[in-house]
Amino acid sequence: MSDLQNSLEGARRRAQQLRAEIEHHNQLYYVDAQPEIDDQTFDRMLQELGELEARFPEIQDPNSPTRRVGSDLGPAPGGGFERAPHLTPMISLANSYEVAEVEAFHRRVQRLLGREAGPYVVEAKIDGVAAALRYQDGAFSVGLTRGDGREGDVITQNLRTLEDIPEAIGGGASGFPFDFGREGLVEIRGEVYMPRAEFAAYNEVREAEGLEPFANPRNATAGSLKTLEVEEVRRRPLSYWAYAISWPQDAPLDTHRDELECLRSWGFPVLESRLAQNLEEIFEALEALRRERDRLPYLIDGAVIKVDDRSLWTQLGSTAKSPRYALAYKFAAERARTRLESIEVSVGRTGVITPVAHLEPVRLAGTLVSRATLHNQDEIERKDVRPGDFVFVEKGGDVIPKVVGVDLDAREGGVPPYRLPELCPSCGRALVREEGQVALRCTNLDCRAQRRGRLLHFVSRDAMNIEGLGEKGIDLLLAEGLLNSVADLFRLPRERLVALPGWGEKSADRVLEFVERARHRPLAPQIFALGLRHVGIAAAGQLARHFGDFASIRSATIEDFEAVEDFGTITATSLHQDLLANRDLLDELEALGLFATRETRSPRKRTLPLAGKSFVLTGTLESMSRREAKDALEARGAKVSSSVSQKTSVLVVGEKPGSKADRARELGIEIWTEDRLRSALGEMDG
Ligand code: IVH
Repeated sequence: MSDLQNSLEGARRRAQQLRAEIEHHNQLYYVDAQPEIDDQTFDRMLQELGELEARFPEIQDPNSPTRRVGSDLGPAPGGGFERAPHLTPMISLANSYEVAEVEAFHRRVQRLLGREAGPYVVEAKIDGVAAALRYQDGAFSVGLTRGDGREGDVITQNLRTLEDIPEAIGGGASGFPFDFGREGLVEIRGEVYMPRAEFAAYNEVREAEGLEPFANPRNATAGSLKTLEVEEVRRRPLSYWAYAISWPQDAPLDTHRDELECLRSWGFPVLESRLAQNLEEIFEALEALRRERDRLPYLIDGAVIKVDDRSLWTQLGSTAKSPRYALAYKFAAERARTRLESIEVSVGRTGVITPVAHLEPVRLAGTLVSRATLHNQDEIERKDVRPGDFVFVEKGGDVIPKVVGVDLDAREGGVPPYRLPELCPSCGRALVREEGQVALRCTNLDCRAQRRGRLLHFVSRDAMNIEGLGEKGIDLLLAEGLLNSVADLFRLPRERLVALPGWGEKSADRVLEFVERARHRPLAPQIFALGLRHVGIAAAGQLARHFGDFASIRSATIEDFEAVEDFGTITATSLHQDLLANRDLLDELEALGLFATRETRSPRKRTLPLAGKSFVLTGTLESMSRREAKDALEARGAKVSSSVSQKTSVLVVGEKPGSKADRARELGIEIWTEDRLRSALGEMDG
């Protein structure tokens, strides 16, 4: 075989390998919404493949991932969304990580134009999911995902649940009275995302419902948009930033800044942008964004640099994959190196086993990190992480920092590969790995660690609210053998409590008083306390209101549950199963006097005082947490969302309100102080 053939064969094999890997990671990223590698690593593979294909035209393939635009969302599980063609291809931008690539972009623009280029607009690159919105004669008519760039999934109904997306645009007030083209059609492009704080709160809800939390806001967004139950999507705190008017193609807008201004006048949230006259100012703007990055309430993964003059966009043209008028500059994830002291295996309330890395504390993106997730056995093996190793830790948008790799050169040797235990570290029962799942699980409902998790959930504030029984208290009662199940809480012997180390009469009586109150808590928190799968505080409230009393809930069929507002088949089925599986415990709790309160059966929307009102909270509240304010408002029928739009009824401002207050003033929205909120809540109770 000649050398040429040899290297050609080598290139072919490498290309095949790269294509398979890229496909695999595309699937993980777009379809499963559970990526395993970072964007930079992915882009490097794609780049290597592109270079190989350029050098050896023989190995080119029309189906190569280098020729395709990734899809933001794969098919919904079980299929489900209709597909529709895009008005113009929904292509993405060329990615860059290096300063030199930004310079090359600027030079290319100059060369193509044959003159000095500028100004440019530099704006944040939101880490979300792209969505195109069509308005027919000013009314929102169709919403699409990117799909394969030519065709997207029709997710109109899901997008309608977003407060940030106006039902109608245009009208006299806009200042941009363009006549919507001959067909009366306008298309907006932008990014759906989940703000950091909302993401964290939403994950808490998921965990309380016994569901797997999402790894980061982007996955949460993609997963939410893929959901087939609109009512479920409505519960997800999704927001939208608009950045382009992609139809009509001859919209009377000279610059990108005009384009953004027009979007703003139509009521879309629009990102702040910076004008850069030249390369130097581009770098200043990139630096400024990088500095702000950690403080922004949403995640950005870089910046987008765009030529401001829209008439030049067609002149600059595009490559097969991306337009030449713009460039995405991505920030590399911040990363730190530290020693992995040990791997702790924790057992959650639902029995799921999670390996947690205990690290020598290290500074990362502004905080001190001492714990990181190791996900599961597969991940530990893939990275070959062993106790004592020096590891690299990254903090993307993820809730917990993650170990992304091992510094193999620094390994001292002698430590064998790490394997998760085969037996539950708490109860010793053999762990099982369920079909199709990566997580190991302890299936022993009597397992002490699970019992502990369930007890902590049971006494938590939104559930039974038993103050004085935090982790320490529960651990003590468990150690004393006083708590074998949640039912034991209602027959704690006072004399044993009084005698507990560090307790005494006062602590004992306080706990007993809260236990007594818990016995008579309303139905909804009592149901929530049970920790049934898919039944968070909101679903528990729906159940209580729908059925009125616990006996009706216990005798309900799957079909009955499906008739509850916001309930789908999955929730209905698992709830039915869980109630049957826990019969004995439920009987016992009923005999102890729980679940005796009745709820007035009422469709909440019409009768509650704040039904139909939409609230936004901003700034720091003094007398209550945001979470409490949100719960209180929702309990009275209000909807609480994350950003101000024309649909907002009231903005509640605390200390140091941000830009939301300005926007509310602009839109003439009613603004309440915290005092006003408190007195309003008080009046409604009276
Ligand atoms: S402009 C022709 N501006 O990043 C594409 N995109 O890889 C014009 N994105 O597809 C896109 N923030 O999903 C633009 N400020 C921004 C953006 C942004 C996020 C997303 C979008 C786009 C991808 C580019």
